Amino acid sequence: MKNVKVLWTVIILLLGLSGFLVNKFISGSVEPSDDGRTAVILTKDERNFVLDEMRAFLVSVQAVSQAITEKDMNKVAELSHKAGMAAEANNPGSLMQKLPIGMKKLGFDTRKQFDAISEIATTSKDALAARKQLDTLMQNCIACHVTYRLPEEKNQQ
Ligand code: HEC
Repeated sequence: MKNVKVLWTVIILLLGLSGFLVNKFISGSVEPSDDGRTAVILTKDERNFVLDEMRAFLVSVQAVSQAITEKDMNKVAELSHKAGMAAEANNPGSLMQKLPIGMKKLGFDTRKQFDAISEIATTSKDALAARKQLDTLMQNCIACHVTYRLPEEKNQQ
């Protein structure tokens, strides 16, 4: 009888812990922000990493757009492949746990859309189709910026 009780206690504790972890994974490390967005709380290094990726995003969008205008589809393919899922390889795992699921989805979808541009540039080589995909991709930049922000750590302000 005593063993059964201990077993149930262990089961309940484990369920509670896994529920907590799943919840953490979905909601991420977030706080409400006074500008109406959701503040994602990261360490200084993680925040710098994300902002660095962001500046690289802007560079990629400009370079891919220019290559499309110049109808250099080999360059479009190469640049958009680099900005696609291939770029996720060096993402620190700790960061993944802290980002809310909606932000992760938008981030991965943006990477996949860069891959889609690369695919268009290597298969149909249709510049207008690539341009349209880039237009759609940039809706993700807007959607994410309107929803999330990355405040600096409080003790550094
Ligand atoms: C998954 C969410 C997400 C997506 C998608 C996203 N961003 Fe961001 N980006 C952010 C957040 C969050 C910040 C920080 C904003 C803040 O704190 O106000 C940011 C900041 C930036 C910054 C400022 C960087 C700095 O050094 O301060 C640039 C530039 C930027 N994003 C460009 C882009 C471009 C271009 C795209 C689309 C190709 C894009 N972002 C897509 C979430 C995203």
